Amino acid sequence: MTEIAIVKTHAEAGRIAADLIVAALATRDEPTLGLATGSTPLPVWSALAERSLDLSAVRGFALDEYVGLPPGHPESYRAVVDRDIVAPLGLDPRRVRVPGDDECPLTEAGERYEAAIADAGGIDLQILGIGRTGHIGFNEPGSSLASRTRLKALTPATRADNARFFDSIDDVPTHCLTQGIGTILDARVLVLLAFGETKAPAVAAAVEGPLTSSCPASAIQLHRRAVVIVDEAAAARLEHRDYYRFAWDHREIATA
Ligand code: PGA
Repeated sequence: MTEIAIVKTHAEAGRIAADLIVAALATRDEPTLGLATGSTPLPVWSALAERSLDLSAVRGFALDEYVGLPPGHPESYRAVVDRDIVAPLGLDPRRVRVPGDDECPLTEAGERYEAAIADAGGIDLQILGIGRTGHIGFNEPGSSLASRTRLKALTPATRADNARFFDSIDDVPTHCLTQGIGTILDARVLVLLAFGETKAPAVAAAVEGPLTSSCPASAIQLHRRAVVIVDEAAAARLEHRDYYRFAWDHREIATA
């Protein structure tokens, strides 16, 4: 089931996602949260931090990490996760992993990350952004819908989008380690967020387009519990948006 919430404000998106996270974390003593970097999930972390929960037992697994940045680089996803998520939420940094953080050869990093996720009992809820290319994690168009954590090249569009965090586009890494689409689909709940008109085509392709590796995010259509939270601008190209609004407004009937 894919549920679509079309929200007026990013704060509202953050509150809806935080409610879903709180429910997912309550299912186990040492629950696991799938973490996403990027600008879009920031209201989620703020909304969760406002609840002042003890999250020290939560284990976190980031979706992806650049390859080739020096250790401690402020734009490495390890640093971003520590700054934007671990610190404000009071997570235990030793319980939070990013792909490739155990200093093994790149060829082994994917398998090791998969093993760590499996050892933690899988991911209870995965937060996702979406790229203009339709990527989730850094699974760019053409990614196998069954892929697992592995090395990938970034597209020029993604490198251009992420150049805002670096001095120049030449400084944006060319490669990354990313959870695969199969890895993401194994999470028990998916929560995908998108804001702004630049994301509208990718959101429409993901939710209403055909299931295709040309839009990796379309793989969420295969998931049993995916919630898509979009603002009005990101929802603008959804053909059935009035129906989604109606279904969301009456969702208590479906869960009664
Ligand atoms: P953004 O990135 O939230 O910074 O737009 C999303 C993504 O690339 O997955």
